[in-house]
Amino acid sequence: MIKLREIDSDNYEKVWELKSLDSQKSFKDTVAKDFATAYLELLEGDHPPMFLAIYNDEEVVGYALILYYELREEGNDHEEFDIFCKDFGDKAIYELGSFMIDAGQQGKGLGKASMVKIIEYIQSAPKGSADSVFLICREGNEAAEKLFTSHGFKYIGKQVVEGEKVMRLAL
Ligand SMILES: CC(C)(COP(=O)(O)OP(=O)(O)OC[C@H]1O[C@@H](n2cnc3c(N)ncnc32)[C@H](O)[C@@H]1OP(=O)(O)O)[C@@H](O)C(=O)NCCC(=O)NCCS
Repeated sequence: MIKLREIDSDNYEKVWELKSLDSQKSFKDTVAKDFATAYLELLEGDHPPMFLAIYNDEEVVGYALILYYELREEGNDHEEFDIFCKDFGDKAIYELGSFMIDAGQQGKGLGKASMVKIIEYIQSAPKGSADSVFLICREGNEAAEKLFTSHGFKYIGKQVVEGEKVMRLAL
């Protein structure tokens, strides 16, 4: 059974050991970069990041990094967020900033089961209410695209960065 738990001193080494397939390395940031992003968000962001280990029973099989942002109508710190205000009227959003299942555990349905838990977690408004959750899917990442689409994420039709497609799920 899939459970999400905060990454802490008990489990961070297990998370650190997780690996993508070589063919997937261009699809997401490294584990090290995700730890750095979480650290910087903790230091400098308006809301602490949600950095969660994914457990299958008692085994760490993946992780998710989730961020929360309250938006301004214009002039957001991340200017790409202006799209969410202008096109959808979003006032606050969650970002699934990173998500992975360990190479050795893929293809067993754990990604799908984890997405259900991640969406439930976000719907519980852990940092506050929000209008949507978004993520970036890099071109060619067919497994992830299929997974996100099957959970209701839709392309917003704009690429802020070449090769990175923004997908949004209304909450
Ligand atoms: C995307 C990822 C999380 C999927 O995890 P997983 O545990 O293998 O996923 P599941 O076993 O639950 O399969 C989910 C769906 O993807 C499909 N899938 C899995 N691997 C696939 C592949 N290599 N190519 C195409 N489809 C694939 C499955 O068939 C399944 O579809 P179905 O519902 O029609 O059966 C995993 O591949 C991963 O960690 N990738 C590297 C990190 C990454 O790309 N993260 C997303 C960043 S945007």
